[in-house]
Amino acid sequence: MNGMNEIERHYAVGNILSAIKDALSALGRSENNLSVDDLSAVDEFHIGGRIASEHLFKQLGIGAGDHILDLGAGIGGGARFAADRYGASVTGIDLTAEYVEAGREMNEWVGISDRVELRVGDAIDLKFPDEFFDGAFTMHVLMNVKDKPKVFAEAYRVLKPGAVFGIYDVMKYGEGDIRFPVPWATDGSASFLATANGYVSELEAAGFTVEAVNDRHEFGVGFFKKVMERLKTAGGPPAFGLHLLMGSNAKEKVENLTANLIEGLVAPYEIIARKP
Ligand SMILES: C[S@@+](CC[C@H](N)C(=O)[O-])C[C@H]1O[C@@H](n2cnc3c(N)ncnc32)[C@H](O)[C@@H]1O
Repeated sequence: MNGMNEIERHYAVGNILSAIKDALSALGRSENNLSVDDLSAVDEFHIGGRIASEHLFKQLGIGAGDHILDLGAGIGGGARFAADRYGASVTGIDLTAEYVEAGREMNEWVGISDRVELRVGDAIDLKFPDEFFDGAFTMHVLMNVKDKPKVFAEAYRVLKPGAVFGIYDVMKYGEGDIRFPVPWATDGSASFLATANGYVSELEAAGFTVEAVNDRHEFGVGFFKKVMERLKTAGGPPAFGLHLLMGSNAKEKVENLTANLIEGLVAPYEIIARKP
């Protein structure tokens, strides 16, 4: 994994696409007859998966024909869902080349490549013109980004006036050190958690008007309690699940995140901001 930055080294597992294909064939499915919805168990890499994306997207006012930016799109689950549900075009950028390559192939599987474009890119340095997008979202990405003001300044620059920017991130909730590894970082060197108030101040400093801040702690705790119950009953993860993106220590990462949530150290939050 030479030439990768620390973020990419954390996320890349080397065999994501073949692991996803193997899991599909274990279920008797082939990649030739899948819908966007069929992929949601594996391609929505954030607390609450598809349910959480729906909750966020309902607040963004995405319309048919809109061109939306997904910052840190991962393997493209949120981007495909937004395009499929709302008839939008979505451009997703992500630092992890393996995710982008897998996501592009998955776009082909479900026949959505004409409306979902995935590219390697860094959220702190967007290669798009000013006032280019009708809206933007980011889900579970900025925990990895130290320079959030730079991301907010870039998002502000590339959005049209009146456009909405939706954020769904894990944020600092209470005082105390969190347990590592977690799904977004192996240790503290790539984890830059900030409070919701911190996000709001930095979004406002970038020029955004913050319209909503939603504490999703209870939702996150409830979600993981159900995940843990299912793991116990089934004796392990389902063949087709998010552990395929998290490498060999997926179980430890999920258990630590669950403990950090239950102890009130972290919480998922939504923030809805608008460029005036
Ligand atoms: C937990 S995953 C979430 C992926 C996707 N948003 C989702 O919800 O399914 C975090 C993603 O953020 C990406 N990432 C982290 N820092 C980034 C940056 N500065 N620019 C672009 N992508 C970044 C990682 O490569 C990884 O794919």
